[in-house]
Amino acid sequence: MKIRKAVIPAAGLGTRFLPVTKSIPKEMLPIVDKPTIQYIVEEIIASGIEDVLIITGRNKGSIEEHFDRAIELEDNLEKTQKQELLEEVRKISRMINIHTVRQKDPLGLGHAVYCAKSFVGNEPFAVLLGDDVVDSQKPCLKQMIEMFEQYNSTILGGQRVEWENVSKYGIVSGNKISDTVYSVKDLVEKPAKEKAPTNIAILGRYIITPKIFEILENTHKGVGGEIQLTDGLRELCNIEDVYAYTFEGRRYDVGSKIGFLEATVDFALKRDDLRDDFKAYLNKLNL
Ligand code: G1P
Repeated sequence: MKIRKAVIPAAGLGTRFLPVTKSIPKEMLPIVDKPTIQYIVEEIIASGIEDVLIITGRNKGSIEEHFDRAIELEDNLEKTQKQELLEEVRKISRMINIHTVRQKDPLGLGHAVYCAKSFVGNEPFAVLLGDDVVDSQKPCLKQMIEMFEQYNSTILGGQRVEWENVSKYGIVSGNKISDTVYSVKDLVEKPAKEKAPTNIAILGRYIITPKIFEILENTHKGVGGEIQLTDGLRELCNIEDVYAYTFEGRRYDVGSKIGFLEATVDFALKRDDLRDDFKAYLNKLNL
């Protein structure tokens, strides 16, 4: 079955980025000059998906506005003959069909994904977390879709992480099938280093079968008092085949300050219009 729909949970409060997230959604923080959520939406488009549901919450209105038309701004850019900027601004509102639904209470990622139930219906779908920006040759989601086409089962996208960091992630264990694919036997959300079965972490990319909705309906609160997607997936792997796929690409945790700064520097250095000046500045710092 073709993957036609993607879900971006974006209801989190962004407490790691206070004070700016007091009034600005963390998904709107720019890496250079583009909101982080636009990188995710562009990955979705480049992977051939046409419908996106963004799960929002209070104070997230600017996300919708970003993907809508901006008539006054467009008029102004047209009058002042700023053609390139005009095209850029228009492109964003024409990108893709964006749907939104509000998660009324911040009950956790599992609950946020459950809010996508009626949008998704009875077909497998993609989930992309906004804190995980992946820079890769082939879009990360496209790699995941190719895996799904091969296995026709839930695919969890991840990579090995430093053992010191396993407690930040959903961790999978299972049997190795190839260099990049594991058949998942168990999952645990944010285990202590001593208790982690492996260091293979889920890094914000999922293709999930609709069975997950039945499970999430009855999933109890887990780590942090939240309904965890990982707990739902743990149950799913007892009922259906679930695979973990270690994707190619550099993943940035843009929800952390260090990850955000790393992404900012790396992405700026990739830009033709900024590289030389920025490099010259970094060299002057003599770090
Ligand atoms: C979430 C998931 C976790 C996953 C991580 C990836 O955690 O619950 O399983 O490994 O995203 O970034 P969060 O970072 O929202 O605490």
